[in-house]
Amino acid sequence: MLAGRSLDRRLVESAALLHDVDKLPKVRPTVADLAHGAGSAEWLARRGYPELGEAIAGHPVTRLADGHWFDRWFATASPEALVVSYADKRVGQQLESMADRFASWERRYPPEARTREARGRWTPETLAAVRQRAEALEARVCEFAGVAPAEVRRLAWTGRALHLTRET
Ligand SMILES: [Fe+2]
Repeated sequence: MLAGRSLDRRLVESAALLHDVDKLPKVRPTVADLAHGAGSAEWLARRGYPELGEAIAGHPVTRLADGHWFDRWFATASPEALVVSYADKRVGQQLESMADRFASWERRYPPEARTREARGRWTPETLAAVRQRAEALEARVCEFAGVAPAEVRRLAWTGRALHLTRET
């Protein structure tokens, strides 16, 4: 229960595990006409899991660069979608602060870089707006959960699961 609202934990975990499925080489060509995230949602819908789409489609950090899109999403997103998107802003290989995560993105995708990714073309003003929207997301999710950002932890099962994936 989050701030008086229920949260479908199974949906959050499933969406979080599958949110980047459209990056897999076998999947990407099947949803090539869709943006990242929307591709994952579509691929899962085709396989009988349309309920995961709403919690997945809004997670890409590039969504935060579109103020109009973000404002509409932020006003209507389910708690599950907010949590999945926030988790994406806190976890690379490890759980880290949002500031560290953004610093990592900026190192990998500096403004002068010319990549296919929209974030490679972000201006300093856009980057500041993206950070501001990410902070609003963090504030809302942490308020829902009744925790401070520094208190966010991985669920206990994830450590063992990640360890097992590295052994295979
Ligand atoms: Fe992603």
